Amino acid sequence: MKALLCTRLGTPDDLEIKDIPDPVAGPGEAVVRVKAASLNFFDTLIIAGKYQYKPAPPFSPAAEFAGTVESVGDGVTSFKAGDRVIGYMTYGAAREKVAISTERLVKMPDGLDFDRAAGVCITYGTTYHALKDRGAIKAGETLAVLGASGGVGLAAIELGKLMGARVIACASSDEKIAFARKHGADEGINYASEDLKDALRRLTDSRGADVIYDPVGGPYSEPALRSIAWQGRFLVVGFAAGDIPKLPLNLVLLKGCSVVGVFWGSFIERDPQGHRANTVQLLEWCAQGKLSSHVHAVYPLADAPKALKAIAARQVMGKVILRP
Ligand SMILES: NC(=O)c1ccc[n+]([C@@H]2O[C@H](COP(=O)([O-])OP(=O)(O)OC[C@H]3O[C@@H](n4cnc5c(N)ncnc54)[C@H](OP(=O)(O)O)[C@@H]3O)[C@@H](O)[C@H]2O)c1
Repeated sequence: MKALLCTRLGTPDDLEIKDIPDPVAGPGEAVVRVKAASLNFFDTLIIAGKYQYKPAPPFSPAAEFAGTVESVGDGVTSFKAGDRVIGYMTYGAAREKVAISTERLVKMPDGLDFDRAAGVCITYGTTYHALKDRGAIKAGETLAVLGASGGVGLAAIELGKLMGARVIACASSDEKIAFARKHGADEGINYASEDLKDALRRLTDSRGADVIYDPVGGPYSEPALRSIAWQGRFLVVGFAAGDIPKLPLNLVLLKGCSVVGVFWGSFIERDPQGHRANTVQLLEWCAQGKLSSHVHAVYPLADAPKALKAIAARQVMGKVILRP
């Protein structure tokens, strides 16, 4: 089978496509024919050895996929050949077939295609965990989302609306704001041309946002925190801008607010049942059209460097999919 391989840590152009032996399902595992593998921002880091998980080469990037079960190993009773599934595996999905524990698979509902299904698990899973379990967002509260047109950002716009919040999309271009509004955002702030703190205050009658969802970091976190509401929750999701900001703790005191970490990878290890329940719910909402899982572009494996460069260049809105 064909696999996209990181044979040495480096740039997207260092990736290679190689023929490797087909996998075999071990006990408790299934072999899945990958129809769509979804890329995330962290794939740009993992191939450079700059992510929190540092696999030794050779390995395939892409941590989530959708496909069809081809065979199952000893002891597997809950899945059979032909089942349409999604799965999560930290890294390794950018290849034609994967062998994976069936504990990491969830069946796909009817009415959902492989491309959209492939991108649900991590972006929407992270965001649902963030808003529900970590931010305890309530209907009627105001949610401000940074990086609002990216993978997790778009998920926050859509889930925020579904959970009854008033949603303010914050992004770096008018095109990205328009995209977020199309997906349900009530208001938009272009933080490349407007002062983020002032704009957030203006849109909240100086009260501030109850929940701030921050997957970007860099220069945006502090102005966002400065405009959080009394007893607001600042959700630390990621640092796509590169720099990890240092927040002044006097602001946390003065606002009576909470700065809350969100670590989906650890959550799913610690609470696999909660993760599975969340994923089943998210897939259903997607199949019902309540969540878009918007696909920005689909690339063949050979164009993976182009796909990863588009993510790193901040050009993507929604998800980028590889079709092995
Ligand atoms: N905590 C967790 O469990 C968890 C789970 C999944 C992902 N994450 C993290 O969340 C972040 C976003 O992931 P994603 O897959 O949603 O990424 P994405 O689709 O690439 O979106 C990232 C957004 O960040 C903004 N950005 C600002 N500066 C950037 C830069 N220098 N390069 C790239 N983007 C930049 C861009 O929006 P604008 O142009 O509008 O600013 C972009 O839309 C990443 O740091 C990722 O590691 C964390």
